[in-house]
Amino acid sequence: MSNIEQTLSIIKPDAVERNLDNKIKSIFIQEGFKILKEKKIKLEKEDAEKFYKVHETKPFYNDLCEYLSSGPVVAMILEKEDAILSNRKIMGATDPKKADEGTIRKKFGISIDRNSVHGSDSIDNAKVEINFFFRD
Ligand code: CMP
Repeated sequence: MSNIEQTLSIIKPDAVERNLDNKIKSIFIQEGFKILKEKKIKLEKEDAEKFYKVHETKPFYNDLCEYLSSGPVVAMILEKEDAILSNRKIMGATDPKKADEGTIRKKFGISIDRNSVHGSDSIDNAKVEINFFFRD
């Protein structure tokens, strides 16, 4: 049975700043994702705090929110069979140093903070995250 899912992907400020957004989008398209919607947006720090609320007790929360709101990001709704898992495989491990060869974070990530892309980690979070960026 097919299991078409939608997930939220963010091309983070470090990648947008280096003009890697088109390169990263073409990787998703090549991997069979449809980009249903996309928008380039500069978040305020309070927006980033809302987006990353699940991490609010973590020691890296403040830096993370400062960083996500430090420059424009590209948010996308990606659709594919098993999109959530597939996206996470293509992104690679959170820490680019630990990411497999060929993954986006291995290719483009600079550090665990500046790791170029974000992807939803579950169906429930995908719904919340899609709604965060594409409510209207
Ligand atoms: P992301 O997938 O966007 O989700 C939360 C982000 O927190 C993560 O990518 C990393 O960029 C960042 N982060 C910073 N430090 C850590 C850490 N120690 N463990 C996990 N994520 C971290």
